[in-house]
Amino acid sequence: MTISMQRYNSFSIVLHWCIALALLFMFASGLYMVNADISKADQYRLFQIHKASGVVVLWALILRIGTRILTKAPALPDSLNQQQVFKAKLGHLFLYAALVTMPLSGWLMVSASPFGLPTFVFFDWIKWPHIPGVARNKTIEVLANNVHWITATILATSIVGHISAVIWHKKTHNINLISRMWWNNK
Ligand code: HEM
Repeated sequence: MTISMQRYNSFSIVLHWCIALALLFMFASGLYMVNADISKADQYRLFQIHKASGVVVLWALILRIGTRILTKAPALPDSLNQQQVFKAKLGHLFLYAALVTMPLSGWLMVSASPFGLPTFVFFDWIKWPHIPGVARNKTIEVLANNVHWITATILATSIVGHISAVIWHKKTHNINLISRMWWNNK
């Protein structure tokens, strides 16, 4: 028998899956623009797309975390023991921390860059400001760059852990955790 359960509100569900999709794009574009053998002009264009999308992801994360704090999350299934509940909550907290660190470190990096290039969001309509007080600061740029790729590695590992936990609960105890993040039930 599959154990079903309550789900998150629709806004949280939409945000969760939009952010998940956006992360795929952020990882792919980030790794490609840094490592691929492409022209400087293409690299510049990709950097702009990556930065602009990252700012949108930051806003989506703020909305997601705000909604998570202000609304009640559905209770975890009773069949989970205390240790599993603790691990799940700690894991989610860790995921949120890594998620927020990614755009913030990217933003810090470009704000401190010696090039001082602007970031435009929403098809160049909005000029996204740089973080004040760090302009052309090489030390901060290098630090933020390291935080950005180290956190990318940690985040990718955590996402694999997050997905593995969902599969493990389904396989071992037939607990369908995905239904907490979809519209199959109430
Ligand atoms: C959730 C959001 C984000 C994700 C998942 C992400 C992911 C990545 C990844 C995987 C890389 C390649 C790292 C490497 O191999 O060195 C990268 C590079 C980069 N990202 Fe992001 N990023 C995000 C947000 C941002 C934001 C908001 C900005 C700036 C406004 C930004 C600016 C950059 C820059 C400038 C690089 C190139 C670093 C270099 O030159 O080595 N990123 N990003």
